[in-house]
Amino acid sequence: MKFDKPATDNPIDRLQVVGQPHDRIDGARKVTGTARYAYEQHDVVPNQAYGYVLGAGIAKGRIASIDLDAARKAPGVLAVVTAKEAGALKKGKRNTARLLAGPEVEHYHQAVALVVAESFEQARAAASLIRVEYAAAKGAFDLKAAKDKAVKPEGDDPSLDDTHVGDFAGAFATAPVKLDEIYTTPDESHAMMEPHATLAAWKGDKLTLWTANQMVAWGVTDMATTLGIPKQNIRIVSPFIGGGFGGKLFLRADVLLAALGARAARRPVKVALTRPLMMNNTTHRPATIQRIRLGATKEGKITAIGHESWSGDLKGGGPEVAVQQTRLLYAGANRMTAMRLAELDLPEGNAMRAPGEAPGLMALEMAMDEMAEKLGLDPIAFRLLNDTQVDPEKPERPFSMRRLDECFKVGAERFGWSRRSARPGGIRDGNWLIGIGVAAAFRNNLVMKSGARVRLDANGIVTVETDMTDIGTGSYTIIGQTAAEMLGVGLDKVVVKLGDSDFPVSAGSGGQWGGNSSTAGVYAACVKLREAIAQKLGINSTEAVFSGGEVKAGNRSLPVASAAEAGPLSGEDTIEYGDLDETHQQSTFGAHFVEVGVDVATAETRVRCMLAVCAAGRILNPKTARSQVIGAMTMGVGAALIEELAVDKRRGFFVNHDLAGYEVPVHADIPHQDVVFLDETDPMSSPMKAKGVGELGICGVGAAVANAIYNATGVRVRDYPITLDKLL
Ligand code: MOS
Repeated sequence: MKFDKPATDNPIDRLQVVGQPHDRIDGARKVTGTARYAYEQHDVVPNQAYGYVLGAGIAKGRIASIDLDAARKAPGVLAVVTAKEAGALKKGKRNTARLLAGPEVEHYHQAVALVVAESFEQARAAASLIRVEYAAAKGAFDLKAAKDKAVKPEGDDPSLDDTHVGDFAGAFATAPVKLDEIYTTPDESHAMMEPHATLAAWKGDKLTLWTANQMVAWGVTDMATTLGIPKQNIRIVSPFIGGGFGGKLFLRADVLLAALGARAARRPVKVALTRPLMMNNTTHRPATIQRIRLGATKEGKITAIGHESWSGDLKGGGPEVAVQQTRLLYAGANRMTAMRLAELDLPEGNAMRAPGEAPGLMALEMAMDEMAEKLGLDPIAFRLLNDTQVDPEKPERPFSMRRLDECFKVGAERFGWSRRSARPGGIRDGNWLIGIGVAAAFRNNLVMKSGARVRLDANGIVTVETDMTDIGTGSYTIIGQTAAEMLGVGLDKVVVKLGDSDFPVSAGSGGQWGGNSSTAGVYAACVKLREAIAQKLGINSTEAVFSGGEVKAGNRSLPVASAAEAGPLSGEDTIEYGDLDETHQQSTFGAHFVEVGVDVATAETRVRCMLAVCAAGRILNPKTARSQVIGAMTMGVGAALIEELAVDKRRGFFVNHDLAGYEVPVHADIPHQDVVFLDETDPMSSPMKAKGVGELGICGVGAAVANAIYNATGVRVRDYPITLDKLL
């Protein structure tokens, strides 16, 4: 189905199942431990052996020699694989560094060997017997030091280009009120609960991988490239994923090494990356240095807005696209954005929840707060004064829907914005200085081609199959709701099967496009199935109404299951998008409100309450969507206050490589959270009229916390995370 015109009325609009706050249909399996994650696939193939990954002990250089003798002779060892044993390997298109080092080492903890043994403990013990001699080379590990050598990112992606509108320099120079500040955000780790894990099994030249991967089809393609085998010979199965946040968008060492280990040991092999390997072996969100310049009239109209961002990555990698939102969020006639990329020898940087906007808004929305204060304006009033209904860089392009103003107004009312003291340090509660902060939330709404297959059997059971994944987001549930709505059956009559490359290729889980795009694919497949059912029953499909388990047309009414009496019926289709997202800018919007208390003596900061108001199209399931947003808000608090990969600038690695050293918020850190969704449908986004929300929830949170801290204390910290030492 080609989606190239705004959606009109369709069966989803009935909202009998879609839009309802259903519990997760996979919830019971998850809490009873019967949902099998990659490392728990104990019984899918017999005779499983265990692999243990050894990571490189240097950040850059060469392996001079590697002695495997003792490891090979250790008890229970079945095979040891290094680059030498692996033979020729290519690199998947989506990997910057190779997944197996040797002889070159590109980053710390890049895999250098896999030991396969009868048990995990034997594999780990044997790995400790491997002797590697390195010839270390000098690397670049310090973004600040490398900044001046940073260059314009290469590649044909136009979003990496500098943008210029009007005369930024001239307008900034002559602006009556201006701000010019530098903000920094640190390297961050996805730190998802389930580490990367894979079970690999070969049958002849066919390889099956039970793994934790957000993008099944990308994984198949990149694995085929890496091993130099046909795509048809690879099956990826990824039914349950314990968090991804972008860290599982791409193949990592566990997948490749499980496959190589299984080939060497001639047995199925499972590999999980241990927690201490995660931070340096896999990807992370790169640190940024951002310069923001704002110029405005005395009345508060922005006349000049400039945003530059510097980040680093391995050779061949890409930048953190932190200027993305600044191109679209506020009006202003004279504008510029630019990104510069420095070559660093730290582990590979890549997408983490709302790549670009999450760190970009931490800078921009703090700058907006500072500018409001310079202008003597209320921070919300200043933002509304510079709101826009068109793409500020291309005024002929309207937003498909933009209700940022309403997000602020609804939020201000609900949160009690009027109790905020405009003067910092104006409110005190015992030892706590109390502050309130706000920030805009903004994230682009991307749409992706997505396929599905739907089958109806004689018992009236509807089975949906798509390679879409559920990374904790609720995909199973909203996909089930979509099929139930389209076929007029209860959710209990729908079986959803996900995460298998044998199923039609979906949008996958990334960039907050998964919910809208994958359900739109299911919608398209259901349209096909409805036609097949109507035809079978001799009903004109345009007249048929599917409701209450029946198909009705005129005065006829038949059980939907009766169409499948002679055998199951199925429909398969893929939603594809025309240029509606070119003619109209599609984005999601919100406003974050945060209240903090800062201890007057110790500067300990406690978030006291939070509110997010989101305008993100139709909300397919308010319960799972809310869960996405509160999770994202929590992650935003982490980014504001505690999360930071500490770089060892001499040796080039992230020092805090476990959850004791890399701190993420726990329940005790998070107080009352409230989420409001504005009631809206966006007909430009898909037949579902939905948009993404899973990344919107983190966008702006960091700045709202920072602004609340400033409001509480009068101390402006532009260097995240805002730890107490920076406040004293
Ligand atoms: Mo998201 S960072 O594209 O999984």
